[in-house]
Amino acid sequence: MSQPAISALYVGHLREMMAGADRALAAQGYEGLIVASGSLRYLYLDDNSYPFKPNPRYRSWVPDGTPDCFVVYRPGSRPSLLFHQPDDYWYLPPALPEGYWVGSFDLKVVRSPAELKQSLGGATRWAVLGEPTAATEGLGDHDPAALTTLLDYARATKTPYEVECMARASAAGVRGHRAAEAGFRAGATEYEIHLGYCRAAGAREEELPYNNIIAFDTHAAVLHYQHLDRQRAPTVRSFLIDAGAQFAGYSSDITRTYASASGDFQSLINALEVAQQALTALVRPGKDYREIHLAAHRAIAGILVEHGIVKGTPEAAVAEGVTSVFFPHGIGHLLGLMVHDAGGFMAGPEGGSRPKPEGHPYLRLTRNLEAGFVVTIEPGIYFIESLLAKAKANGGGRAIDWRRVDALKPFGGIRIEDNVVAGAGAPRNLTREAFAGTA
Ligand code: GLY
Ligand code: MN
Ligand code: MN
Repeated sequence: MSQPAISALYVGHLREMMAGADRALAAQGYEGLIVASGSLRYLYLDDNSYPFKPNPRYRSWVPDGTPDCFVVYRPGSRPSLLFHQPDDYWYLPPALPEGYWVGSFDLKVVRSPAELKQSLGGATRWAVLGEPTAATEGLGDHDPAALTTLLDYARATKTPYEVECMARASAAGVRGHRAAEAGFRAGATEYEIHLGYCRAAGAREEELPYNNIIAFDTHAAVLHYQHLDRQRAPTVRSFLIDAGAQFAGYSSDITRTYASASGDFQSLINALEVAQQALTALVRPGKDYREIHLAAHRAIAGILVEHGIVKGTPEAAVAEGVTSVFFPHGIGHLLGLMVHDAGGFMAGPEGGSRPKPEGHPYLRLTRNLEAGFVVTIEPGIYFIESLLAKAKANGGGRAIDWRRVDALKPFGGIRIEDNVVAGAGAPRNLTREAFAGTA
């Protein structure tokens, strides 16, 4: 999509942001909104800072990622951006922002966050979104829950601009995934694959939406495996990669699993791939996401029985909790400015929560899907030593064929994860579009 097209999308997005803020501010009796990008944090006893991660509520207004900036909005006026450009020679001061979104703001350059107060003028009942700092102290209520609930609830529904950002984040992530698979086939280590991923995705490590999960063999049985081995065993059987990218703050979150050779594990991957595609087809407005999670358990039970890993019927495997031994996480989550995006459990715009299905504590989204929701669909089948041992010990593993489990354990596990947009027609699969080269 061309630059002018994304500009137009952004104008529409900002219009929706302003309309949503107008409603929420009026409902809660505030006259204006100040949204802070956040400040750098420093290491204990040190003058080095952690990588800067902007306040996602700020990022929902502007793609900018500069510390100590503020979006200031009063209903009825154009929003302003107070852009912090310190006079500094230790660090390069941030360049003035430019691009498709800047023209929508009154840009005011400030040399210190304290200038925020001077630039506000007039008494206004402000709501301030962001961690309290000296710059915002005394200006108004910080993160008032009734207001943030209204705003976060709405964030689940992505505007066309946000979907376009996520399509671009998917395209960048897929470039990384292609390089990663090539590295795996060519004999690279986990560490080398990570470096190749970053280069292909065009991201430095701190720009990734989450730490890459690059896992050979049994490492794939650790759901958020966090190391990058610099040695590669002579024989590597499998490779699971869960890695994303960002565009304008919006994330992709993509997982693929590969086998070194054809055989049992590859046929398990193939079966999960078919099930995963059927599950993505359920992403439609009105669908209770909890039902997709339960459908995943039924599908995985079928695969486990078909592959001789579990004895008995798939129905019994679900009813007795055996599928949770092999699939111990949720089927997915909302995706957006945060990888596990805001508002996944809300019962309505005023709050309240929708419960997780009994026995499924790790599901992160319990709402009915609506047009514009972007969710992940990420079923998995893993051979996790500790969960298997627990099942064996408590009798929950009676239906498990341990010989089959022992044969498959060295492969670690499988996860296949796509990012899917609910809409009027068939769901839009941003990940598959990107792999097909149409994004
Ligand atoms: N990459 C984290 C997740 O899939 O939720
Ligand atoms: Mn993931
Ligand atoms: Mn995910």
